[in-house]
Amino acid sequence: MSKVVLITGSPRSGGNTGHLASKFEKAAQDAGIEVVKFDAVGLNMRGCYACNGCFQRGACVVEQKFNAVADAILEADGVVFAFPVYWYNIPAQIKALWDHFYAFCVGQKDLSGKKAALISCCAEPDAGTFAGVKFAFEKTMELLQVEVAGEVLATGLQDPGAAWGTEWADQAAALAEKFA
Ligand SMILES: Cc1cc2nc3c(=O)[nH]c(=O)nc-3n(C[C@H](O)[C@H](O)[C@H](O)COP(=O)(O)O)c2cc1C
Repeated sequence: MSKVVLITGSPRSGGNTGHLASKFEKAAQDAGIEVVKFDAVGLNMRGCYACNGCFQRGACVVEQKFNAVADAILEADGVVFAFPVYWYNIPAQIKALWDHFYAFCVGQKDLSGKKAALISCCAEPDAGTFAGVKFAFEKTMELLQVEVAGEVLATGLQDPGAAWGTEWADQAAALAEKFA
């Protein structure tokens, strides 16, 4: 059975990110994939301190909340990020967690062979709104030697509920096949 870590990062409960993430999660579970979820907003981490103490006592000696995330990723076959676009970029809450991926480099953890996917949403109709998010995601995964298995970049979603019944919701569910 494959295992996927799902990291969500929207402070708006019942919002579009949550809906798209839940579509992925349900489809993954229906396909027999174990989904381990972390909510970056609830975890409320501070970013990386660049102390280079990674994996000396857990994955992070300072932000110990990252340790469970790191352990889950090391055990998993894949990782899926789901978050809205904030000012053409990654929301601060999820960026703080993401920065701790530095530990995999310093700790020389081999992530090759794992897959990653991105689910993101924004209000504007233009797919170019995702340029910053897409670049950061793809370059991060390239550096970590993680294969990008798919991206769902959902435009035109402003208010909570906007994602319901859209092609984006179907695409988020279809992403699960990439991890089966
Ligand atoms: C602080 C903030 C910044 C945002 N910046 C952008 C942006 O740069 N471009 C855009 O299209 N939408 C932007 N949005 C809109 C959200 O991306 C959009 O409403 C999304 O559907 C929210 O997802 P959620 O329902 O999961 O919170 C922003 C929203 C907030 C709260």
